[in-house]
Amino acid sequence: MPIQYFAEQQLFLITTHNTAYAFCHNKEQDLVHVYWGEKLPYPEDYHIFPLRVLSSFNSSSHELLAEYPDRSGIQNNEPCLRATFAEGTRDVRLRYATHQIEGEELTLHLKEQFYGLEVVLRYRVFADCDMLARRVELTNSGESPITLEQVLSGALPLPFDRDNFRLTHLSGAWAVETQLDRPLITPGRKVLEGRLNYSGHAANPFFALDALDAEGQGATETRGEVWFGVVQWSGNWKIVIEQSRSPYKVTRVAAGLNDYDFGWQLEPQTRFESPWLALGYSNAGFGQMSRNLHRYEINHVLPKAFAADLRPVLYNSWEAVLFNVTETAQMELAEKAAQIGSEVFVIDDGWFGQRHNDRAGLGDWYVNSQKFPNGLKPLIDKVNALGMIFGIWVEPEMVNPDSDLYRAHPDWAYHFPNREPITGRNQLILNLCREDVQEWLFEWLDKLLSENNVGYVKWDYNRGMSEPGWPEAPQAQQREIWVRHIQAFYKLVDRLRGNHPGVLFEACSGGGGRADLGALSHFDHVWTSDNTDPLDRLPIQLGYSLVHSPKTMYCWVTDTDWNSQYKYDLRYRFHSSFMGSLGIGSNLNDFSPEELAEATKYVAEYKTIRPLIQHGLFYRLTPLSETTSLAAEYLAEDKRAGVVLAFNHRPHFWQIPRRLRLQGLAPDAIYSLRGDIVEGEPTSLSGQALMQRGITPKFTRHFGSALIQLSKNE
Ligand code: GLA
Repeated sequence: MPIQYFAEQQLFLITTHNTAYAFCHNKEQDLVHVYWGEKLPYPEDYHIFPLRVLSSFNSSSHELLAEYPDRSGIQNNEPCLRATFAEGTRDVRLRYATHQIEGEELTLHLKEQFYGLEVVLRYRVFADCDMLARRVELTNSGESPITLEQVLSGALPLPFDRDNFRLTHLSGAWAVETQLDRPLITPGRKVLEGRLNYSGHAANPFFALDALDAEGQGATETRGEVWFGVVQWSGNWKIVIEQSRSPYKVTRVAAGLNDYDFGWQLEPQTRFESPWLALGYSNAGFGQMSRNLHRYEINHVLPKAFAADLRPVLYNSWEAVLFNVTETAQMELAEKAAQIGSEVFVIDDGWFGQRHNDRAGLGDWYVNSQKFPNGLKPLIDKVNALGMIFGIWVEPEMVNPDSDLYRAHPDWAYHFPNREPITGRNQLILNLCREDVQEWLFEWLDKLLSENNVGYVKWDYNRGMSEPGWPEAPQAQQREIWVRHIQAFYKLVDRLRGNHPGVLFEACSGGGGRADLGALSHFDHVWTSDNTDPLDRLPIQLGYSLVHSPKTMYCWVTDTDWNSQYKYDLRYRFHSSFMGSLGIGSNLNDFSPEELAEATKYVAEYKTIRPLIQHGLFYRLTPLSETTSLAAEYLAEDKRAGVVLAFNHRPHFWQIPRRLRLQGLAPDAIYSLRGDIVEGEPTSLSGQALMQRGITPKFTRHFGSALIQLSKNE
């Protein structure tokens, strides 16, 4: 039974295979957090600690450990819910009323002490991946509007018997996404957030906390306790990690929608939902954390249509030709793309309106007749005849001021009166809160997909918000845009998917700006980064792997060397892109026949290992902090086959390649190895030996890569 209620102790206990999460309601009907961690043997083990209140300046115990802190009492903690009621009362007092348990879902009903605010805390359990998800739902059952000022999905006090928490999070910038950061938590507050109307390159809505022991050692890839969570939202989000010094050193996390510039007028009889906050605990380090998150993403988050399918090898012409897409050139590329084994051919930016560069055309979604005199049909037919799915790039939420759309509807972009709109990449953001804009968007996108045999959509979003104004709306609603935009964005994609169930959807935002579980509950995968340098990509891809599965991450082989002083061979480029779903973005017209043949060989090789890469269990074999030598293992769930990808960079002559100790194998089974292993090492070893003694990959160049396959002898 994943959810139990013990009436005598008034205790709720949620359990998965390895973890437990417990809270209770006290006699005042406050919800008090009790436990989150490794599963304990008996229900009695989940007892609440009697905390002492030492002075009138400190929070009372239930506030310190509140399961869903409201804004009331004497407390310094981040509240989950802030609101203003009709008489100007800015104090929310929630009390537990009742609950239901239905299978894997727990619904708790809370009531405001005086005002007509009904609060539901909903918990879902995902026992197969040791995860749970929670959110809050607010209903105004009174007669006057309530102004919501902060709505977080949940808060979590961490065990206060552990000290010295370390935060692991992902920060970045355009072309440098998902970089690892690991500060220690000290008393005070650390805020991770996105507040530009997209989840962002700057930070990923994810946190992980582990505790350092007396020797200063924290969890590793394979050992130690890690508490982690993800806000499933593509808009403004916030994760607050705070620690109080006294009287108990409680470390807490509170996460959900960002309150920055946020306000929501909750009218009588209306409802507001927060995003889901996914939560997990691993007692086997960061590797297990990632595998739990990957399984959660694939089994429970991704749209069902393609969740279980392998992602196709795609070709995208963006880096090859930029905006110079023409019928003839695209056909020529399509032939070569098909020749090397691509399964999807995506035409990127530049096919529509007067889109010859990024200064004009966004919003004018008609086919450019200079570039495609006969429309898209001849190209699509050709792509289909070559056996590939046709894909197309769109950026629906944006408009260039230099477009027919903007000239006709300047009020369709977010704006403030008396303010000159500031452009980003020469574009403005369309106001998706407006129903006319939503309808117009649905109509042209639906028409594009209905009239053309499109099987793949790349959906881009290329700037952050400025002037978040919606002057036509009543003033009390104008700060709702942050949430309304994302709700409309999700609804639009869902409506299109409903009408076109066979179409794959990719989320992109100048690379990885929308790599979040909110987007991935409506899209099938994301574009990871505009940086396609195969060396730069490795830490980006490994950072991404902390939270997301390899299959949701497209990785292209291109010709662009962002660090132009280095020359990588084709093999290294492919191996770097083998780490996720494979794409090719090179200008294949510049490839010699030998290079085309070599690329064909790699694409075919990828297809043979694709089930392992995309559906296998993922193990990082090198520490996250490592930069010169990186390796990852992808292992079939039944442990019968696996593949290792390893990379080595500019070693000195006295450095021999790091031995790789594999993980997750069947200890007594004998595995045969083939691929890039140094001469003299055995090619057949037990699983235990491979995990204890390891293997040495063979690298031939300064920017070397190795691919080793293993299969269990039956
Ligand atoms: C963004 C995307 C790129 C490409 C361009 C087109 O930057 O990340 O892949 O689609 O837009 O303008």
